[in-house]
Amino acid sequence: MDNGKPQQRPITVRDFAERKRKGEKLVIMTAYDALFGRLVDESGVDAILVGDSVGTAIMGYPSTLPVTLDHMIYHASAVRRGVKRALVIIDMPFLSYQASIESAVLNCGRAIQETGSAAVKVEGGSPEMLDTVHALVRTGIPVMAHIGFTPQSVNTIGGARVQGREAEGAERLIAEAKGLEQAGAFGIVLELVPTGVSERITAAVEIPTIGIGAGARCDGQVLVLPDVLGLNDTFQPKFLKRYAEMAEEVRSAVGAWARDVRSGSYPDAEHSF
Ligand code: KIV
Repeated sequence: MDNGKPQQRPITVRDFAERKRKGEKLVIMTAYDALFGRLVDESGVDAILVGDSVGTAIMGYPSTLPVTLDHMIYHASAVRRGVKRALVIIDMPFLSYQASIESAVLNCGRAIQETGSAAVKVEGGSPEMLDTVHALVRTGIPVMAHIGFTPQSVNTIGGARVQGREAEGAERLIAEAKGLEQAGAFGIVLELVPTGVSERITAAVEIPTIGIGAGARCDGQVLVLPDVLGLNDTFQPKFLKRYAEMAEEVRSAVGAWARDVRSGSYPDAEHSF
């Protein structure tokens, strides 16, 4: 921010660490197409995450697991076409980076090459994942990490459960965050983590922590656009604050148009040639 206004030049991953040093919060929103990519960008966020939440939020799947690399490339390319300033981060889907370091480098490289995104996001903080992050960063691919509840492991975690409530889990998350920083990640998403634990993680690393359901002590926040807009009105987790009720707006606008068509009042002279 300069003089209280969002900076106008494109945001880069270098800005992330700088923001943390200055104590300025980072704001990240998801988007999945060019239209909303443009609108979200124009609202002045710092980064746009093309999340694999596209699977649940847009595509109608019960989890993010069915989302493929081809789906992500389709959506991230569209978002990239709509965005001028925010950093575009493409979420790497299930099975695109876990099998081997080589496949991770090739798939993340393809994601960057074919979409124009500036960074990737991968889930997990295991020793294997640290090696993968290190290899990606060495290849020139900036990595946003993601720990706490990691939706691609929903079946082993057993649902969307808060992580790190017990001392052992909290210590593990702190160790994972430090490892990811050392491996070269430029930021870490903390999902469903108690505030006290995310505060400790945030203090333990110099890279920014970005919370979703992780309280106010993170260096930034991320949310899922259709949830924030109230488009996804069947989803109301505790951490979600809706800033609009657009599902009702959509039903009411389309319903009004349908009534006008059926009654013959649309199109009228004003809307005809
Ligand atoms: O897929 C996604 O949108 C995410 C955010 C919830 C962080 O991973």
